[in-house]
Amino acid sequence: MNDIIAVCPGSFDPVTVGHLDIIKRAAGMFSEVVVVVMQNRAKSPSFTVEERKEMLKAVTSDLPNVRVASFDGLLATYTKQIGAGAIVKGLRAMSDFEYEFQMALTNKKLNPNTETVFLTTRAENMYLSSSMVKQIGSMGGDISDFVPKSILDKVAKRLQSKSNT
Ligand code: PNS
Repeated sequence: MNDIIAVCPGSFDPVTVGHLDIIKRAAGMFSEVVVVVMQNRAKSPSFTVEERKEMLKAVTSDLPNVRVASFDGLLATYTKQIGAGAIVKGLRAMSDFEYEFQMALTNKKLNPNTETVFLTTRAENMYLSSSMVKQIGSMGGDISDFVPKSILDKVAKRLQSKSNT
């Protein structure tokens, strides 16, 4: 086990089984994993930062070396602040790669002490995204294969109520 603090950043709006798989695998590789809810300026979230943190805490409660945080600012500022040595990101397809590669290079430039580590998603999660979960859930579709069981009711109810307002 590496004695390195790793950060798993994302919007997590909401956390999916694909995110959780990456977090669990990171927890097996690094001594401490901080899952951090960040702002993606290109997206407008459906869940508040507090809601997203609560859901992440619920689904990672059995992982002793994982904690949940949020940060409003640059990821590189946060990694410097907590002394993180790694940023762990999941890669689903080649379509993710160009954007993730650009972010990894930028984060390395802004904080040379962190390395971005890409974990390839499991084949069954290749197509999965929070946006897809939100679209299916808001139209009353079954999201039980996409969202961790412990938060399924909360996510399903919240997405349906949002679509009725
Ligand atoms: O889950 P997402 O939306 O793909 O995560 C993207 C996220 C939030 C990790 C990214 O937008 C981010 O790092 N935002 C913080 C602001 C920042 O550091 N931007 C420059 C990175 S190149």
